[in-house]
Amino acid sequence: MADQQRAKGETDMGYGLLKGKKGVVFGALDESSIGWQIALAAYREGASLALSNVAVALRIGTLDDLAEACGEASVIPCDATNMDELKELFTRVKEEMGEVDFIVHSIGMSQNIRKGKPYRQLNYDWYLRTLDVSAISLHKMMTAALENKAIADGASIVAMSYIAAQRNYSTYSDMGDAKALLESIVRSYGSRLATHGIRINTVSQSPTQTRAGSGIDNFDKMFEFADRTSPLGNATAAECANYVVTLLSDLTRKVTMQNLYHDGGYSSIGTTLPMLRLFHEALKDQELVDGAGFDHLEMD
Ligand SMILES: NC(=O)c1ccc[n+]([C@@H]2O[C@H](COP(=O)([O-])OP(=O)(O)OC[C@H]3O[C@@H](n4cnc5c(N)ncnc54)[C@H](O)[C@@H]3O)[C@@H](O)[C@H]2O)c1
Repeated sequence: MADQQRAKGETDMGYGLLKGKKGVVFGALDESSIGWQIALAAYREGASLALSNVAVALRIGTLDDLAEACGEASVIPCDATNMDELKELFTRVKEEMGEVDFIVHSIGMSQNIRKGKPYRQLNYDWYLRTLDVSAISLHKMMTAALENKAIADGASIVAMSYIAAQRNYSTYSDMGDAKALLESIVRSYGSRLATHGIRINTVSQSPTQTRAGSGIDNFDKMFEFADRTSPLGNATAAECANYVVTLLSDLTRKVTMQNLYHDGGYSSIGTTLPMLRLFHEALKDQELVDGAGFDHLEMD
């Protein structure tokens, strides 16, 4: 029974995968956050944690509850785009915990999406902010951790991505560009980090019902489409967390510079028979002409 529960990710029991390890998780806001679930899973697997988010998120979120659930983890406010704040964070982390064995970057934000700006009319200041918050912050985080000697040789870094880095999802707007940059930073920094035996990867997760996810136009439709298309269905935040802890563990020491899909098989599917039937029925209902092209699609 315990094994069956474990396989479904439904158990409070861990495997001790992160026993004795120390890490920082950035980006847990509330219980729905992927970062929140990663922190819970890492603690369950035996890790000691520090948690971080921007000061405003600490006020509106419930991070203190997570800290309590993770054995009174330290909560450290930090804007991950601000190098001074990152350096202060890693100084404090090093004082309190010593060098860390893992860092999780679970951060993303687009003002253009929040404010409903069409892609062709992006506000460029917000665009730069999207790239800074959602991608360049990973670079800054690595640099600050290395400069402060706050990260141990052999450590593991994981950042969260989405398949819009590879493919066009029009409602994902400038976040697609940010994810492409994030994945590129993982490759570019990866070979440098490898000189310390440190590995770095992105996990490309299914659409997930979180605060950031639900801000995306027509998110519920994207969620349902992915869920119906994926052979195993969408992966939940808790399932994602279970996958991420394997990447933070010693079981994956030669996995680096990868973008790893955690999406129920969605990324390998072209189409499915049920989807084809649905599409065919919809075309019949709308009486679209044969050979209809992209002109018939709404693009912002
Ligand atoms: N929800 C999805 O469908 C989905 C799918 C794939 C990948 N992701 C990625 O997962 C990650 C976590 O997002 P989530 O869905 O859990 O949503 P979330 O809103 O719970 O988490 C996003 C976090 O980013 C934090 N953040 C924003 N600006 C910051 C800054 N300047 N410094 C530090 N932190 C900052 C927010 O406070 C929040 O905690 C993001 O990278 C997101 O793009 C989400």
